[in-house]
Amino acid sequence: MPLTPTPFIWMDGDLVPWDDAKVHVLTPSLHYGWGVYEGIRAYATDAGSAVFRLREHIARLRDSARVYLMELPWTDEELVEAVRELCRVNGQESCYIRPIAYLGYGEMGVAPQLDAVRLSIAVWPWGSYLGDKAETEGCRLIVSNWQRNSNQTVPPLAKATGAYVNSALAKVGAQRAGYDDALMLTANGHIAEASAANLFLVRDGALITPPVSDGILPGITRDSVITFARDLGLPVTERSIPRSEVYIADEAFLTGTAAEIVPVASVDERPVGAGGVGPVTKQLRDLFQEVVRGRNETYARWLECV
Ligand SMILES: Cc1ncc(COP(=O)(O)O)c(C=O)c1O
Repeated sequence: MPLTPTPFIWMDGDLVPWDDAKVHVLTPSLHYGWGVYEGIRAYATDAGSAVFRLREHIARLRDSARVYLMELPWTDEELVEAVRELCRVNGQESCYIRPIAYLGYGEMGVAPQLDAVRLSIAVWPWGSYLGDKAETEGCRLIVSNWQRNSNQTVPPLAKATGAYVNSALAKVGAQRAGYDDALMLTANGHIAEASAANLFLVRDGALITPPVSDGILPGITRDSVITFARDLGLPVTERSIPRSEVYIADEAFLTGTAAEIVPVASVDERPVGAGGVGPVTKQLRDLFQEVVRGRNETYARWLECV
């Protein structure tokens, strides 16, 4: 998806013009993929722009940094303020927000120097991640033959730049084969997640989603959906999902900050349920849209005003 530049990028506390936001080519983060990042969204609400679950995203950024032995040189409050300021100066009411912590260059080698942590934040307008057709008719998925990162290879619960080569291989393979996205399996043949989104199945009115112990990224949208479902009285089970169970689900949907809540139309050419947007998916998606647009008091705590 093409990027639409905005006036400024926040770099280590300074607002730098978009075209000048440069990093040295010898940063170890480029060579060895040692960096951590987040994907966040701000929405236009009736009370102005608001960032959805900003503090939880910052907490996950900090967790990812801990896994990679990086200390973020900014407090949570400073980062919240940086994001709010950046949305304001760029005049973005509704946008995608990308903080990234990486290493400044100094030494070269596979064991990078970890005390030169740099942080930048960019924002840009970003529409539907999987496209409008996927939103209305559901996305077409294929199970990838690339296995999802495991705890024995690259820590799956940290959102690390280098780890995404795994997701990218799966996504590129799926797109070249004519699909919207890929589902990735664990070493045991359980469904982990899509390349950049979590998976939910609906069976007999109940939700099933893989547990964090199956090597997924603990998605914040996933957590929001679990909270909605429980509040609506829909049973939710976090358990391993064998590949073939996806083929017999009544409904399936993906969740993610970029993707939001997208119905799944088919997996490996097998239609999921009746196609389109199933009733449970629709109920959760409508509620999600209401919440992020500030039209639901119950979850107002999740919105950080810009
Ligand atoms: C691999 C992966 N899984 C799941 C998600 C969904 O997480 P969230 O809902 O926090 O955006 C993402 C997106 O960040 C992701 O990259």
